[in-house]
Amino acid sequence: MIPYKTILKIDRASKQPIYIQLTNQFINLIKERTLPPQAKLPGTRTLSDLIGLHRKTVIACYEELILQGWIESIPKKGTFVHKDIPLLQQQEWTEKVIDRTDDKTGFSFNKNPILNRKFPQDYTEDYMYVNDGVSDERLAPIKELSIIYRKIANKKHMLKYMKYGTTYGNTELRETLVCYLNETRGLNITKDNILITRGSQMGMFLTAQLLVDNQDYIIVGETNYSSVDTTFEFAKGKLLRVRVDENGLNTNDIEKLCKKYAVKAVYTTPHHHHPTTVTLCAKRRIHLLNLAKTYHFAILEDDYDYDFHYNHAPILPLASHDTCGNVIYIGSICKTVAPVFRVGYLIASKAFVDECAKLRRFIDRQGDAILELTFSNFIKDGSLDRHINKVVRIYKARRDLFCKLLKEELSEYLSFEIPMGGMALWVTLNKNYSWDTVTEIAKQQKLIISEWQRYDVANIKHNAIRMGFSCYNETEAREFVKRFKKTMVLVDA
Ligand SMILES: Cc1ncc(COP(=O)(O)O)c(C=O)c1O
Repeated sequence: MIPYKTILKIDRASKQPIYIQLTNQFINLIKERTLPPQAKLPGTRTLSDLIGLHRKTVIACYEELILQGWIESIPKKGTFVHKDIPLLQQQEWTEKVIDRTDDKTGFSFNKNPILNRKFPQDYTEDYMYVNDGVSDERLAPIKELSIIYRKIANKKHMLKYMKYGTTYGNTELRETLVCYLNETRGLNITKDNILITRGSQMGMFLTAQLLVDNQDYIIVGETNYSSVDTTFEFAKGKLLRVRVDENGLNTNDIEKLCKKYAVKAVYTTPHHHHPTTVTLCAKRRIHLLNLAKTYHFAILEDDYDYDFHYNHAPILPLASHDTCGNVIYIGSICKTVAPVFRVGYLIASKAFVDECAKLRRFIDRQGDAILELTFSNFIKDGSLDRHINKVVRIYKARRDLFCKLLKEELSEYLSFEIPMGGMALWVTLNKNYSWDTVTEIAKQQKLIISEWQRYDVANIKHNAIRMGFSCYNETEAREFVKRFKKTMVLVDA
């Protein structure tokens, strides 16, 4: 008999029940063949005496081992390790302690370098980040949302929302958004034209998967939102680039490309081009819509920052002028409220929405019905509009201050235009400076500029990056500019 008394160790301070501790140790003994198949186990009375545990504990352990199939009880003979336990292949012995965080897997899988993206490491709280233009989560209407959420969750009829539901998203939210988007964006849609997504990115992913077959052509700007490049490249699409100037995408370039290639889609952020923040002018809007009609391509309109406009009324989306079903319109509340609330929408012809809903089933069976219902109520009772009015006022003041400070303190190093809306500036560093050097020295000032290269996806060397202003209050904006100025003085030294 093996020396159970020394081998089996019980930790009475552990939260794990003793019989489970005992069971796991027996499993290990069986796996490592200290107890080989058909080995006889001591009787429960013997073992409990040997190791000083109550007999009931040992019985519970044996019962568990029998249930899991590790041991079997043979009447009148005793308890034995199951005869069919195969040998567990062990990893070859190495000196190295097995580290589960390393790169090793015991199987092969598809790794796509397209998906690689460097994210800033986690620095301590006293670091500041140059960001893409993000909302200030401190302004998110958490209280209002949680009141609505709690009210909904407490209702008896709530149970029906906890079941498997439609893959189109919560029906009430779809209905609410139909009215809201028709009123605010001049759309002319019905419930059949809308799919609720988990943010704009899901809409883009679904679109790319359905639009693109191997090596289909997609037109994007020479400067572009890099995640969209990745999304289409991952779907095996081939990107063609057109110039972007102060009026947005160059639609003459698009026309030339359409004459040469069978173009499947044009991706655009017409309200404020990402990353340069310019608005697509009216003439080019009409030109683009006409081209889509003539050449039968889809316009993927990403209206990521529709709510943020400071100098004029919002410009209606291309989708509001679409008479031929060419536009796939994508938006979300992730920027408007806070990125954590993954609620967005994809608007298109019924046929396309239906197909998206079918595909969606396989990556996310359905959305979060309770959260979606919460947002439906939040929109219906006017809270979303009140929130937008509030943050637009705050972000406008932040834009003005940020621009003023940058102009006063840093105009000898960089230039920018004051954006009409959105949450970021497009800041060009003077030619004699490089972001590589600035990034390194900024780190010493606890200012992180991460992966500035993603703003120059076409490698045209514009020397510019996006600089978000909306998440900084006055004190933070002053601190940000102070660190930036110190950085530039050090770069010059
Ligand atoms: C241009 C653009 N489109 C889409 C998104 C994704 O938005 P969402 O959080 O709704 O997925 C972002 C996020 O930064 C963005 O900048």
